[in-house]
Amino acid sequence: MMEMDGQQSAHGESYAYTSPYWAEFYDMWVEEIIGSAALTKDDDFFFNLLSPFLPNSTRVRGPLRVVDMATGTGRVIRGILQKMNSRAQGELPGDIQKELEIWGIDHSQAMINRAKGLLEDKMKPSTTIVWRTSAAANFVDENPELRNAVDLLIFAAGSIGHLTAHGERRKFLQQVVKALRITNPPQTPRSIAAISILKPDDGLQENCSEQHVAGKEVRFNAEMRKPSRQWPHLEYCKSETMTLKDKGILVNSFDLKIVETATGKLLSQEKYSWSLQVFSQTEWERELSDCGLSISQKVETGSETWYILHLANKKSLV
Ligand SMILES: C[S@@+](CC[C@H](N)C(=O)[O-])C[C@H]1O[C@@H](n2cnc3c(N)ncnc32)[C@H](O)[C@@H]1O
Repeated sequence: MMEMDGQQSAHGESYAYTSPYWAEFYDMWVEEIIGSAALTKDDDFFFNLLSPFLPNSTRVRGPLRVVDMATGTGRVIRGILQKMNSRAQGELPGDIQKELEIWGIDHSQAMINRAKGLLEDKMKPSTTIVWRTSAAANFVDENPELRNAVDLLIFAAGSIGHLTAHGERRKFLQQVVKALRITNPPQTPRSIAAISILKPDDGLQENCSEQHVAGKEVRFNAEMRKPSRQWPHLEYCKSETMTLKDKGILVNSFDLKIVETATGKLLSQEKYSWSLQVFSQTEWERELSDCGLSISQKVETGSETWYILHLANKKSLV
């Protein structure tokens, strides 16, 4: 099957998310930039997206199915499970947990491996997590079990900006329309896709569009040094990020050094990159409507604008 994947074709082996070192450093970097208080608020937000579906324990059409698109190191899934577990002490009937199936999908095997490692010891036998390495633009075609079978899809951290190939975002939205379960409100809650766009001055993906002049490099984030937990004898040193704007695409690149802590010896130094599409609200809302998705709500959180989407009446548009 032909895959459409802007990051893999633009960056190849230097694409940051293919590196197991970056996979570990990513979590430290996010915590530093976003802050642990804001990350905890995100967990509440993710759980609140799920809660309307929870009282519906008598399901006729299989489990309550959640897709975490571009799951990365599984931050969204960990947030949901932590909240589920704390509520489960009191309020949630056990059969609801058994019926919950969460899919973590990402095109990077390195990120999925880390997500699995972080989640394995937290999982209860009642939780089903399905991991898949698939590109966003093909995720239903590659996993046909998801067709008309997803109650909630979450695409966090503005990662939709990574769909930079021509037509890639539209192709992803068409997959979302195939995935969302056709429901019968008010008996069953309407299936939803929650997709976030980063606010322009967010630090996470150096997405400061106004500050960029075509062809001119801009520097973001100071150098960051952190010890590895996975490889305790090593430490990371990330350089500041260089950002170059070219035809509506921001290309971010940086060096990641791996240093032996005891001796200070430099073991490796790689240049990594990714790219992001500069967001245009008009274009985005036109694509949503062309693909058959309606906006139920827009929600502002700390650094993201969330679009809560449902199927427009005529699903046949795709
Ligand atoms: C900024 S991280 C977000 C990770 C996680 N969702 C979070 O909130 O922390 C971006 C993720 O998007 C993934 N990604 C980028 N483009 C993708 C694509 N076309 N298909 C699937 N995953 C993609 C990357 O591999 C990476 O794990």
